[in-house]
Amino acid sequence: MIIVLDFGGQYNQLIARRVREANVYCEVHPCTLSIDKIKEMAPKGIILTGGPNSVYDPASPHCDKALFELGIPVLGICYGAQLMAWMLGGRVETAPVSEYGRTDIQISRNGRLFGSVSENTVGWMSHTDYISEPPAGFIVTAKTDVCPAAAIEDDGREFYAVQFHPEVTHTEEGGKILSAFVKGPCGCSGSWKMDDFVEQTIREIRKKVGSGKALCALSGGVDSSVAAVLMSKAIGRQLTCVFVDHGLLRKGEADGVDRVFGPDGPYDLNFVHVDAHERFYAKLEGVAEPEEKRKIIGEEFIRVFEEEAKKIGAVDYLVQGTIYPDVIESGLGDSAVIKSHHNVGGLPDHVDFKEIIEPLRMLFKDEVRAAGLELGIPEELVYRQPFPGPGLGIRIIGAVTPEKVRIVQEADAIYREEIANAGLDRELNQYFAALSNMRSVGVMGDFRTYDYAVMLRAVKTSDFMTAEAAEIPWDVQQKIMNRIVNEVDGVNRVLYDLTSKPPGTIEME
Ligand code: XMP
Repeated sequence: MIIVLDFGGQYNQLIARRVREANVYCEVHPCTLSIDKIKEMAPKGIILTGGPNSVYDPASPHCDKALFELGIPVLGICYGAQLMAWMLGGRVETAPVSEYGRTDIQISRNGRLFGSVSENTVGWMSHTDYISEPPAGFIVTAKTDVCPAAAIEDDGREFYAVQFHPEVTHTEEGGKILSAFVKGPCGCSGSWKMDDFVEQTIREIRKKVGSGKALCALSGGVDSSVAAVLMSKAIGRQLTCVFVDHGLLRKGEADGVDRVFGPDGPYDLNFVHVDAHERFYAKLEGVAEPEEKRKIIGEEFIRVFEEEAKKIGAVDYLVQGTIYPDVIESGLGDSAVIKSHHNVGGLPDHVDFKEIIEPLRMLFKDEVRAAGLELGIPEELVYRQPFPGPGLGIRIIGAVTPEKVRIVQEADAIYREEIANAGLDRELNQYFAALSNMRSVGVMGDFRTYDYAVMLRAVKTSDFMTAEAAEIPWDVQQKIMNRIVNEVDGVNRVLYDLTSKPPGTIEME
């Protein structure tokens, strides 16, 4: 394992990502991680990340000097490079000009990290200070027009420092540099695979939980499902999963959760399916304001979960499906923001538990999916598209009624089926039917109708922060429209939402 010590830089997640791409397991920890803890974890290498500070600022995060006496190879990146140089007696000062962006780098052939890197390469820079004089024992292995020591090495002590960011893709050969560090000085073999993670996590959970009890809120989404299966493989019936069905799920989804986690499913756990749709519908009656709807759904979810938890009694652990992108890095200590089971309501106030377990908190979404497949979770669940915690509640504009839920569920099921038939399901990042609050006049046979308009949305996006409406072939759209107006009672019009994000959002509310 490689440990990344986080000094607050914006690319820190990427370092872990790149190291793992070299098939070496890697964890990010706050820079305040104690030396004792590091010794206990026995990493094969340590990476100090970038960060926004200057080493001279007394408020800057520093690390224990003992880190450099552990005999473990260390790579410093940007702020981490400056910190290492400064702590080991080199000189760091404000550069005559800051470098920002893609920067030409001249590599000298004497370095251990640059063996397979071109002599003239491009690296991503973002710095104000720089190393003006390396500490004793170091040699300079790369320069830029501004930085006399853009990379330095002390191969004897196995300390390496780079001013640029090998973890971002703008650094053309960055992956090679990180790989050279972890496979060279650190001696990692690069054989880490998802099954290792799964096995190791199961062992750790067993050790931690012992004979204790754990409780997990299942939303049916990928993250909570993978977390639940990992826990069940580790502790079996010491785990209880509570699935709160708020009646705002897509058609067939609650049954899908039952099939996987229920008594006839393949996993050993206690499964509680709470059909709470009436409670949710009652609370939502007549409420049209989007934020109010979200709040009601979130709060009611927590209340139902608490009531079920009360029946179970005190538990030792509450399991959360938090994944790495949900973890906000402050770089200084407690960096996790705890995600509620599906982002809507926060943590329950009245559940008696000692500690939270987040078995996936080190994984990226695609790694969670890989773990899910490794655990034998069905593909349709593992590749499920994102679905918001408040569910169809925010895909029905205006007040929610059982009738509107039925309409949107049926229209959405047809839409999903036809998108899959057209082979577009893996290409679109998110697609769904929503119900406008608009009714309009139509004609069906010889009769006048006055029915709802269904809106179809499909987006392409990589980060869900911005998105483009997807182009769906006209014949596919026509087929979907035909089926919806013919098969779903109460609908006489189908509209396609062309809006990108921004200015729209992906969901309707
Ligand atoms: P918006 O509508 O903000 O959605 O463009 C961006 C992404 O987030 C999902 N989303 C949610 N996910 N709880 C969730 O777990 C929520 O309350 C929530 N609201 C939006 C949305 O489906 C899209 O993928």
